[in-house]
Amino acid sequence: MKLIIINGPNLNLLGKREPEIYGTTTFESYFETLKKQFTQVDLHYFQSNIEGEIIDKIQEVGFSFDGIILNAAAYTHTSIGIGDAVKSIKTSVIEVHISNVTAREPFRHTSYIAPNAVGIIAGFGLNSYDLAIEAFLKLRK
Ligand code: DQA
Repeated sequence: MKLIIINGPNLNLLGKREPEIYGTTTFESYFETLKKQFTQVDLHYFQSNIEGEIIDKIQEVGFSFDGIILNAAAYTHTSIGIGDAVKSIKTSVIEVHISNVTAREPFRHTSYIAPNAVGIIAGFGLNSYDLAIEAFLKLRK
């Protein structure tokens, strides 16, 4: 199974950024753990702070990969362009957030991704990503 994690803006700062919300682990080290945990998955990773680059990546993988785990970060709440990209592709998308966005500020309660995602996993820290991989594995059975 071929999956990609796509992370949006400021998630390159995980480990340093607001650790009380996002924890102290860098995504790079967490990704190494994920690859060891899910040896049966061909797991890819992409991060960008730039909206158009995220759209380009969604288009690039969206007709060949088995699943996209998308944490569009702040763009989740603002980007019609990323929402439209998710709607335009064949590959299923699971929306992921590290924090429980619905327990935070009202502007984080809106998602332009969710209407076209299979589902949302939020609030489990970095474990949100491995739960999304588990979900794709289960959906496949
Ligand atoms: C986030 C939640 C977003 O509201 C925020 O803008 C982020 C990270 C999360 O993973 O909890 O950058 O997507």
